[in-house]
Amino acid sequence: MSQQAIGVVGAGTMGQGIAQVLVGSGFPVRLYDVADDQLGRAQAAIDKGLAKLVAKEKLGEGEKRDAMARLEPTTSLEALRDCEVIAEAAPEQPALKEKLFRDLSRLTHDAILASNTSSLSLTRLAAVCERPERVVGMHFFNPVPVLKLVEVIRAEQTSDATVARIEALAKALGKTPVAIADSPGFAVNRLLVPMINEAAFLLQEGAASADDIDQSMKLGAAHPMGPLALADLIGLDVCLAIMEVLQEGFGDPKYRPCPLLKRMVAAGYLGRKSGRGFHVYQ
Ligand code: CAA
Repeated sequence: MSQQAIGVVGAGTMGQGIAQVLVGSGFPVRLYDVADDQLGRAQAAIDKGLAKLVAKEKLGEGEKRDAMARLEPTTSLEALRDCEVIAEAAPEQPALKEKLFRDLSRLTHDAILASNTSSLSLTRLAAVCERPERVVGMHFFNPVPVLKLVEVIRAEQTSDATVARIEALAKALGKTPVAIADSPGFAVNRLLVPMINEAAFLLQEGAASADDIDQSMKLGAAHPMGPLALADLIGLDVCLAIMEVLQEGFGDPKYRPCPLLKRMVAAGYLGRKSGRGFHVYQ
């Protein structure tokens, strides 16, 4: 199983993390992005991530070199033609993902097309594909090399064989897969992002400072980081998009996005990636 190449589409934070765990687990990876400079940044980030493992003696220097040699960056989607599984981690834009999936389903015959989408319907993505039974969700969590969960999301069209293959792949990466139906927010984001949204309401109401809200959940609920710091890690734009998907998907006003969250996204305060979110980053 570990001999066949895996494609990764999108060299942003999630694509980098997915590629890192794949090459670190012995899989040759074709990492595709439209932008050459993004591929360069991804290679540097993956190198740095693997170096952390070397520093902690979880990986040898030679193993790190071998892992980096398994990484093949490319700006040609064609290079993914013979991949057995393609993990898509492109920006969370429905039209972009639909085009990618349509193109990938024509380019490949029986490759499994697995999306890391955090909010879009897999059933709708599968519907634009040829042989939609091979479309599935394979949802990792940020930071990918650290967090152990993979949500395996079954579209209406997904076959049992596709689900079984992705569960086996997740296990081969040292992750724990959980099976989830194609429902808005799946499991983790449906629980996590409304909590973040509620923290934004607390801040908006002036009930507590951002630091104190975060401290409350770290010390009072043993969360590794507070909800507002977590929003900054995830990206405020991503959090807002997930709230909108929950609101639209369930038609329930309890999922209304916090106006402060909307204003921050409109202002470009997106979290760590823009240097400012609920907290400020150097
Ligand atoms: N590669 C390998 N190891 C890495 C790494 C990388 N890229 N990045 C971090 N690590 C390792 C560190 O070396 C460290 O290892 P040790 O414990 O062995 O020393 C460990 O991970 C923790 O890292 P740090 O010491 O730098 O930082 P920390 O202890 O403060 O933890 C955190 C940081 C892992 C982010 C932790 O705060 C955490 O788990 N936070 C919650 C994150 C979370 O909830 N993520 C889910 C977001 S939702 C999502 O992703 C889905 C979506 O669709 C939006």
